[in-house]
Amino acid sequence: MTRFVLATANVHKAEEMRAVLGALDVELLARPPEVPEVAETEDTLEANAALKARALVAATGLPAIADDTGLFVAALGGRPGVRSARYAGENASDEQNVQKLLGELVGVADLERQAQFRTVIVVAYPDGQSVTSLGILDGYIARNPRGIEGFGYDPVFVPEGREGRTLAELTPEEKNALSHRGKALRALAVTLGRA
Ligand code: IMP
Repeated sequence: MTRFVLATANVHKAEEMRAVLGALDVELLARPPEVPEVAETEDTLEANAALKARALVAATGLPAIADDTGLFVAALGGRPGVRSARYAGENASDEQNVQKLLGELVGVADLERQAQFRTVIVVAYPDGQSVTSLGILDGYIARNPRGIEGFGYDPVFVPEGREGRTLAELTPEEKNALSHRGKALRALAVTLGRA
């Protein structure tokens, strides 16, 4: 049994991680409350995830798992991208970020609203080694928020092939089965399972 500490304090993300990695012989520990959240100061998802994972290893001495996600919207030149959490400003709420996104896309035609979620997960070990995993989900941005499941940009993200339903209109199981984080986690599970 390997113990990993999670960098995230987001309960939705932690649940998604437990749902996939729970099948392995691993124990996933919550981030200790005395360890502060690490600022995402880097320019790429990979570097931010590594920064968070390394900070957790330094604070706990345990292997750590961190993820960083961005929403890349084609009509906005890839924004908000690595700045997705702070799109509408520092400490912006999910709703403020969604409203800013919809505001920037007013007048953008349905066929030009393509977007992509990307998640990078980094597992960092105390001996300095690390494992990186990527998951991508293609879709488009809806004109109005729909659905109550999930979090973040889920109410306005329509994944390809789901008959127009947003991620927030899918059950957690349906979302995990196709999501960027689900894909990154399953790829990671394969790598860890081989270790
Ligand atoms: P972070 O990985 O927590 O930094 O996430 C960056 C931004 O993307 C935040 O605004 C999150 O709410 C949002 N986000 C991350 N994962 C998802 C997801 O699975 N669905 C919708 N929004 C997400």
